[in-house]
Amino acid sequence: MSIELRNVAKQFGAVIAVRGVSFSIGHGELVALLGPSGGGKTTVLRMIAGLEMPSSGDIFIQNQRVNDVSVRHRNIGFVFQSYALFKTMTVFKNIAFGLKIKKWAKSDIDFRVAELMNLLELNGLEKRYPHQLSGGQRQRVAIARALASKPSVLLLDEPFGAVDAKIRQELREWLVRLHHDLNVTTLFVTHDQEEAMEVADRIVIIAKGTLEQIGTPREVYEQPSNEYVARFIGVMNVLEANVTSGIARVGEMEFPTSSALDGPARIGFRPYDVQVSTDLACYRYRAVIKHTFFLGIMLRLELEMNSGLVIRTRMTKEEYSQLGLDDGKEVSLQIRKYRVLASQSGPLSSEVAYTYQMPPTIAEGI
Ligand SMILES: Nc1ncnc2c1ncn2[C@@H]1O[C@H](COP(=O)(O)OP(=O)(O)O)[C@@H](O)[C@H]1O
Ligand SMILES: [Mg+2]
Repeated sequence: MSIELRNVAKQFGAVIAVRGVSFSIGHGELVALLGPSGGGKTTVLRMIAGLEMPSSGDIFIQNQRVNDVSVRHRNIGFVFQSYALFKTMTVFKNIAFGLKIKKWAKSDIDFRVAELMNLLELNGLEKRYPHQLSGGQRQRVAIARALASKPSVLLLDEPFGAVDAKIRQELREWLVRLHHDLNVTTLFVTHDQEEAMEVADRIVIIAKGTLEQIGTPREVYEQPSNEYVARFIGVMNVLEANVTSGIARVGEMEFPTSSALDGPARIGFRPYDVQVSTDLACYRYRAVIKHTFFLGIMLRLELEMNSGLVIRTRMTKEEYSQLGLDDGKEVSLQIRKYRVLASQSGPLSSEVAYTYQMPPTIAEGI
């Protein structure tokens, strides 16, 4: 079922948790609600579930306004941030709990629980109690319980926050498969941008109660609608530059801009958009590799330019060894793609214009 929020706000006393947020999710989509802690993610989820009433604005499920519809009539499955399984109940009873309340026949309950145990790979654990399960198993029981009565919307609040990194990876892959099989409209909350990028069809980014952007992982990465998103999603080099006569300058670097205004500006570019060569005549600028950080198959490099400017780039281990790089080695470099950011380092703004521009060397076809 589709979900739509129109200008939804929530205030708790003096605290404004959510400020007029609007977005919609199509039937069967898998969407991540991403943002820093305290940004209003849980509050948005609880309002969709009907656990919290919006202070203003409207919520629609399948085009029907549900502001006044109670939790139990919204047909939503909810997995909370903490495990919140019933400690004194077995796995079977935990999963069957909602169905009993809905007065399903015993044979139907048995059938449905068996189906879910299968789907969530929990077979053989029906008689265990929550304390006898691993973190990953507990979280799968919580999801099975949320899915028991065949909800048309599944909401998950940081579902993998409390499990260790390896299990978290398994659960992510597993959520994608589950969603693929069931095709239930799913909204999951995370503060982990990598998790959102990996799992979701689309990402809704919210910070300080405000919607910053909604888009596919690729869109939010490649066309961030403002600086906040650009910095939050992936790593970005941001340099304080000064514009004169249409050129933003920082250290020895020059970035043509379409801005007619002189004054301060910021230049942003992704580590991947820094091109490096050991042939010192290859690119326009010179730098020395100051430090290499090993991150598994990827490496992060800090490059120090003649002027002392430090920029970050990334490459695979293969590229690094093919180029014969090492700390202290001198290289030439250029920036393939960059954005001219707003001139003021003020508060979050959705109105900052971003432009991709080619540095002169590329524009000239070199
Ligand atoms: N019941 C509540 N009473 C008062 N303030 C709340 C309540 N719930 C959330 N808040 C506040 O609203 C803001 C958003 O919280 P929350 O939605 O939990 O953010 P997130 O899930 O993104 O971490 C925070 O400042 C939080 O302290
Ligand atoms: Mg939260």
